[in-house]
Amino acid sequence: MIGLEGIAYGGDYNPEQWPREVWAADVRLMRQARVNLVSVGIFSWALLEPEPGRFDFDWLDEVLALLHGGGVRVDLATPTAAPPAWLFRADPSARPATREGHRHGGGTRQSFCPSSRSYAEAVTRITTALGHRYGRHPALALWHVHNEYGGVNAVCYCEACAQGFHRWLADRYGDLDGLNTAWGTTFWGQRYGDWAEISPPRAVPIPVNPAQELDYLRYANDVHRANYRRERDLLRELSPGVPITTNFMIANCREMDYWAWAGEVDVVANDHYLQAERRDNHIELAMAADLTRAVAGGRPWLLMEHSTSAINWQRRNIAKRPGELARNSLAHLARGADAIMFFQWRASMFGGEKFHSAMLPHGGTGTRIWREVADLGAVLSDLAELRGTTVSADVAIVWDWQSWWALELPWHPSADLNYRERIEAYYTALWRAGVQIDFARPESDLGRYRLVVVPSLYLTTPAAAANLRAYVEAGGTLVVSYFSGIVDATDTIHPGGHPGALRELLGCVVEEFLPLHAGERITLDGGLNADQWAEDLHPCGAEVVHRYLDGPAAGQPAITRHRVGRGTAWYVSTSLDAAGTGSILSAAGRDAGLGDPTTGLARPGSVEGVELVRRSGAGRDYLVAINHTDTTVRLPIAGHDLLADRPCTALDLPAGGVRVLRLPGPAASPR
Ligand code: GAL
Repeated sequence: MIGLEGIAYGGDYNPEQWPREVWAADVRLMRQARVNLVSVGIFSWALLEPEPGRFDFDWLDEVLALLHGGGVRVDLATPTAAPPAWLFRADPSARPATREGHRHGGGTRQSFCPSSRSYAEAVTRITTALGHRYGRHPALALWHVHNEYGGVNAVCYCEACAQGFHRWLADRYGDLDGLNTAWGTTFWGQRYGDWAEISPPRAVPIPVNPAQELDYLRYANDVHRANYRRERDLLRELSPGVPITTNFMIANCREMDYWAWAGEVDVVANDHYLQAERRDNHIELAMAADLTRAVAGGRPWLLMEHSTSAINWQRRNIAKRPGELARNSLAHLARGADAIMFFQWRASMFGGEKFHSAMLPHGGTGTRIWREVADLGAVLSDLAELRGTTVSADVAIVWDWQSWWALELPWHPSADLNYRERIEAYYTALWRAGVQIDFARPESDLGRYRLVVVPSLYLTTPAAAANLRAYVEAGGTLVVSYFSGIVDATDTIHPGGHPGALRELLGCVVEEFLPLHAGERITLDGGLNADQWAEDLHPCGAEVVHRYLDGPAAGQPAITRHRVGRGTAWYVSTSLDAAGTGSILSAAGRDAGLGDPTTGLARPGSVEGVELVRRSGAGRDYLVAINHTDTTVRLPIAGHDLLADRPCTALDLPAGGVRVLRLPGPAASPR
């Protein structure tokens, strides 16, 4: 996709932080580490255009020439995430406004209003200039538009945004009657007689209309997307044939609906940083990578940023231990990444990120990190043949950003309701059982999956409900967790009793939500434990699989199973602990014909803590095996060890080690 021979390897390169003498050494060291792609110019606007309309491209010309001479390709950024100070001096309203009405200050990046006209004009000028100058540069492999849309200034509450919101609403609802009905403005006397009466959901002492909040998030997502498109379309014209992308923060940015962004980029690029303090953070990494692959439509994607070791912006920035850098990078690669890139090439000496790790640490090439970076470069060149191969899965988890937004609006039954926590609970149980997982949108075709898990899909559109039903009728196995199917796209309750959109499919009705006290634990029959949530659940067609033994619903059904058409729909009305989640997924997995009937989901011979992921393509199957345990593991898998370049009859994985095998025989056909 980006015209490189093998796996792309490199990072953000910010030469402007260094004197010219360093640049040649940088390129020499890049070659040593087998870096073949760097992202340049991400925050360089103030240097490239020191005054409005006056450009200085000399230094960038020189950098690109050096990189080109060294055989390093360039992912050239438009620097529009960091507008120069002159923009705000001339137009203070180009700063974003907070919910409370304060304008952001300066001295940092990403501090612009996404609806600002002066910002848009300046963006057009710098993007056009860059496109003209470098659009056909021989080093150019990819355009990196902006940086992390929605990262800091996802939602702005200023007057320009309010006016844009009015136009967006008029477009969505046609007229004010449509809006008043959709928003339920008869509640609390909010009926609007003019678009201009509607404000962004600014700070007020009690919650703003939830439908208004939800639409404002949709609008904000669209504003950023339109900004991206403006730059992309300029570059398409000026730089024909060169792929264009922007770096997403899939799984960790709540505000951007990446399903809506997916079709806008030529190749999906993602940034991922570990939650450093978590000991199981490699599972969250796998989840983010699987979700990124889903956003990429199953095609290979680019890991645009991750860290070689510690980052600088969490509470405790735990450094990676020896070998972790390679494990993390290869886990992304296993799950479909065709590029392994870092923030950043050379550690900064000043500024807010001077304690962030880099490929080349402050200590230079005599450091462990540098050695691991150089080793990884060699490993990736040995894995070139994996480029373009894909991953397939039998199990999918439904993920929906808009449902995430809606679920976490205020004044819901419990503060414990947490969309990502539920998703992760199910993902983790599947990961531990060694199951390969895809993510899917609620409305997408699910027919290729044996098992589909729907954690807390609070906002369920009629189209999504019909899609889930069709999936089960055709023979699929569905597991739905509590607080799903409750409202439609306008945050209006589906009628007839909860979960309105899914009641008939699940064959049960919830009379009342029974959130638990903080720390309260409850038990179910069959040795299952849960917390946070219970329900007054009544079957209307479903069989009862487990009952509550205690808590507010003692004696009542807790988990049900409903045969519909050729398939089965499970309902889990409580927040099961890890063991309980695993056991229900195993039972549902048996319905789905997955895994081993005696062990449930776990594949025969799989070892917990050993990640095994297959990539296939062009008639070949590859297995990436990562040992996250602290003991050596031997698995009866034969193949050609690509890193040692020799055949092996069994897979020996040292503690913390990674192996990549080319498996014998033709690729298994993806089902
Ligand atoms: C990313 C950002 C990079 C760098 C990095 C540090 O969010 O895109 O520019 O700041 O975080 O972890």
